[in-house]
Amino acid sequence: MSTATESTALSPAPPVALVIFGASGDLTTRKILPSIARLVDGGVLDAGFTIIGVARTEWTDADFRREVTASTPDAGPRWRSMTERFRYIAGEYDHPDTFDQLKVLLADADANDGTAGNRIYYLATVPAVFGLVAKSLASHGCATPGEGGSFARIVVEKPFGRDLESALDLNEQMHSAFDESQIYRIDHYMGKETVQNVLALRFANAIFEPIWNRRYIEQVQITVAESLGVEHRGAFYETAGALRDIVQNHVMQVLALTLMESPTSTDADRIRDEKVKLLRAIYIPTPDEAVDRSIRGQYAAGTIDGQPVIGYRDEDDVAPDSQTETYLALQLRVENWRWSGVPIYVRTGKRLAGRVTEVALTFRQVPFLLFDHRSSRDLRPNTLILRIQPDEGISLEFGAKVPGEKFHLRSVAMDFSYDEAFADTKAADGYERLIHDAMVGDATLFIRSDEVEQAWRIVDPYLQAWSEPGAGLHLYESGSWGPHMANLMTERAGHEWRNPKIDLELSDGGQPHLDQ
Ligand code: BG6
Repeated sequence: MSTATESTALSPAPPVALVIFGASGDLTTRKILPSIARLVDGGVLDAGFTIIGVARTEWTDADFRREVTASTPDAGPRWRSMTERFRYIAGEYDHPDTFDQLKVLLADADANDGTAGNRIYYLATVPAVFGLVAKSLASHGCATPGEGGSFARIVVEKPFGRDLESALDLNEQMHSAFDESQIYRIDHYMGKETVQNVLALRFANAIFEPIWNRRYIEQVQITVAESLGVEHRGAFYETAGALRDIVQNHVMQVLALTLMESPTSTDADRIRDEKVKLLRAIYIPTPDEAVDRSIRGQYAAGTIDGQPVIGYRDEDDVAPDSQTETYLALQLRVENWRWSGVPIYVRTGKRLAGRVTEVALTFRQVPFLLFDHRSSRDLRPNTLILRIQPDEGISLEFGAKVPGEKFHLRSVAMDFSYDEAFADTKAADGYERLIHDAMVGDATLFIRSDEVEQAWRIVDPYLQAWSEPGAGLHLYESGSWGPHMANLMTERAGHEWRNPKIDLELSDGGQPHLDQ
């Protein structure tokens, strides 16, 4: 595993030609190109690099270069001068001409741009063509690593499948073209420093391991809350929903890193082995249990940052009677010695009260509380909070005596803030880090085929249960913490959702709800 936490400087990448399928799309212009521009300007990618864009849009090389420049307005001179060598192929993803042209351009890049036979194929297309592109690459001899140690790798964006069956099918198609060691499945959450820091916190510090288990931890909550709505992605979101968009991938990754056993080394496969082992230990509910242990919601109109916002069903490309969930709360359980009996609450939603991703581990109460109820009513159970974003850091909440004659207790927090502790260090953004890692061949932060399959196995029963008529969907007001019904899920176990940070700032302690 490369050491981005020691130094912001990413190690130099080897020469490589990057082929972006879906080069005229949103992901390419918003995420991929700006990240690569930073790698070039930062000296991580140097001579020996080029980009070949492939898409159906009828662009010329000049059109592509113009788009590249427009999508990287802050880039420096290195990147600006490099864009001149970028090439573009307008073609269908299943047409031999496209791949014949690609072979010519790759040979040209090796001869003129010093790309040394190394290739990365980046699938930034609609998922429906992932398998097709991989197979076409293989049938044109592009998937085989060259002689003399050159490499051919394929980077695949999410969503990887839309249920277990399609994910199995896609893995099969990918494996018919590329070896698993050549496949880099991206989950951009794994590129976040704070997600990687879960490993450092757990396995570089002696104090946490003895208490990281059912004996000391009463419940775990993972929240991925967004204040944004679906924006311009209504058409996509209608086919996805919160379970597929966030839970199957980002939440499962964060959950696995938080709850897994210690790997035997930082080798990519040893870490991924432990993640898979943890995912395998998650109880797979029956359809009835899936209904019982999940709450689906959809945002109605409301207010975000003081501005009125429309409801999901009024967004562009969304059906007026859409049943797609924009909010989801699940109660999971892990069946192993470490976590047996500890509820794992998971929650995600759009148009919630704030943008917060965090993991909160709440510890058991003391066996006997010496102090009476009146003096301890402001005392919450000890909680360790891993703040993934924003305001990245870690807090430990514990009880303290309020100064004064009376013995009054209150919860206070010990806080670690990334910004303060590492003020001089600028971390690479998630995409930059992941693209770099694919180039240097470090697969640690990418998702292995068995991880993807296991994560689908966990969420599949919910998809099946919800496809039945009458599956509940609760409307919630935009700007709230989601449907009120979600509170019942935690309350029946004597718990309550920790409404992250923002909760402390709300004077009324909550928001109105509009349950359907
Ligand atoms: C993406 C989802 O994977 O993650 C989006 O498709 C979501 O719907 C985004 O908004 C959230 O990412 P982040 O990094 O802003 O938490």
